[in-house]
Amino acid sequence: MKTAAPVRHSRIIILDFGSQYTQVIARRIRELQVYSEIVGFNISAAELAKLQPNGVILSGGPASVYDKGAPQVDPEIFSLGVPVLGICCGLMLMAHHLGGEVVFSGRREYGAGMLQITNGSGLFDGLGPQLDVWNSHGDEVTKLPAGFRAAARTEGSDFAAVEDPKRKLYGLQFHPEVAHTPRGREILKNFVYHICHCAMDWTMGSFIEEACARVQQQVGDAKVVLGLSGGVDSSVTAALLHKAIGDQLTCIFVNNGLLRAREEEVVQRVFGENFHIRLEYVDASDRFLSKLSGVTDPEQKRKIIGNEFIDVFQHATEKLLQDERTNGSGEHSGYRFLAQGTLYPDVIESVSIGGNPANVIKSHHNVGGLPEKMHFELVEPVRQLFKDEVRQVGLQLGLPKEVVYRQPFPEPGLAVRILGEVTPERLSILRAADTIVQSEMDAADWYYKVWQSFAVLLPVQSVGVMGDQRTYENTIALRIVESQDGMTADWVRVPYELLGRISNRICNEVKGVNRVVYDISSKPPSTIEWE
Ligand code: XMP
Repeated sequence: MKTAAPVRHSRIIILDFGSQYTQVIARRIRELQVYSEIVGFNISAAELAKLQPNGVILSGGPASVYDKGAPQVDPEIFSLGVPVLGICCGLMLMAHHLGGEVVFSGRREYGAGMLQITNGSGLFDGLGPQLDVWNSHGDEVTKLPAGFRAAARTEGSDFAAVEDPKRKLYGLQFHPEVAHTPRGREILKNFVYHICHCAMDWTMGSFIEEACARVQQQVGDAKVVLGLSGGVDSSVTAALLHKAIGDQLTCIFVNNGLLRAREEEVVQRVFGENFHIRLEYVDASDRFLSKLSGVTDPEQKRKIIGNEFIDVFQHATEKLLQDERTNGSGEHSGYRFLAQGTLYPDVIESVSIGGNPANVIKSHHNVGGLPEKMHFELVEPVRQLFKDEVRQVGLQLGLPKEVVYRQPFPEPGLAVRILGEVTPERLSILRAADTIVQSEMDAADWYYKVWQSFAVLLPVQSVGVMGDQRTYENTIALRIVESQDGMTADWVRVPYELLGRISNRICNEVKGVNRVVYDISSKPPSTIEWE
């Protein structure tokens, strides 16, 4: 098997102080086609040097340098000879550690401001004398460390941008990464290209080649099993692994009976027929539905579905191992690996500042769920990628748009969109209504513009009239939301005509429904899913 030598990319390492902006900075850098990685603020200078960064960014953070338990950096970082850019709290820390003076001014400078560039700095090359910027800080630098000079000021501060070009140390009091600093991208570009001399070598094409080489090296001639849900992450993982190791990959697709209409068909067509991926299709609908019979409590439904999935998946892999033992050609050394579509935001370490859990920006890990006793080693070929990068990889690997830009769909499927008991009849009502929602959203060019659009079957019946007949039927709620990451969301102001068309079609075409309502709740306080 061919393997390539690992390629060394240019890279910017970002020290995380628990700011909501850290991931935004990482993405901005990657948009410049430069690899960026987030590490905890407490990394030692020696460990940081081992990562061979072209540059380091100290991100902002919620803390004041004077807070009890405020994060500290290893001051040796400033002597590595690697360019460092401190943003907001990062600047305060840099000034504080290098002998400057930082005070908590008591008057937070927050919101839009005008930056006057007073002293040409490499950071502002090509940007003119003044810029709109976005501030959010409470501390303020009042005296610069030796060797530093001011590069720009705002109304509230003489040291809004500072630098020591000799030591390649730079600081910005405002946030260049946010949209409210319109030319912030150019500031970061100057830092990354001209000060850190990074090459534009982070492209999804080169990522695919390297990821394939890495997987080949890790897996050798062993076999890999992957749970394919049809969602973006597992789909791209499947396509990438298939490119890397072909038939050594087997995907298991479990039909839990809670899928949307034609979902199992799409997965089998795309992966089985088009990609010729070895796909084990397990129809476990009856098992799931009989376990759910009579259950109405949302948490209990979720638990049953989660446990059942693990059981079914484990059984399917054991069967694979058994088949391999009896029928295997001996060509490969068996199933040793379990692949997962873990993404970068799932693996960024949690940072807790001063023991305050409210400042833990990321605590979710996508890696749990499957039993450890299965003794598989993990293959996670997309764990370096953000969601938008995974999508680009998917497109480059030839996955269709309907898979790559698919709206999120919860693992417990339609069960959490049927309030009350999940029965085959209620599933078929919801499936029919959901199909109408998706096709009308698509036809009106709204499907890909929103985060999610779906139908929910309520346990509410109401009186209606159809022809001369009185009806007493079910209610469908429509949920159409926009969101960046699912953490917060707002209902979408779609045109009334579209709502009207969806409602008409559902009432006319779905037997058992005589009323449609539109959910106009944001998250918080509501969640996106109803259960
Ligand atoms: P909520 O309902 O918590 O949903 O506002 C936020 C986002 O997460 C999705 N979701 C899930 N995704 N397994 C998943 O993979 C789940 O159990 C699950 N529950 C909710 C939801 O669709 C939304 O995008």
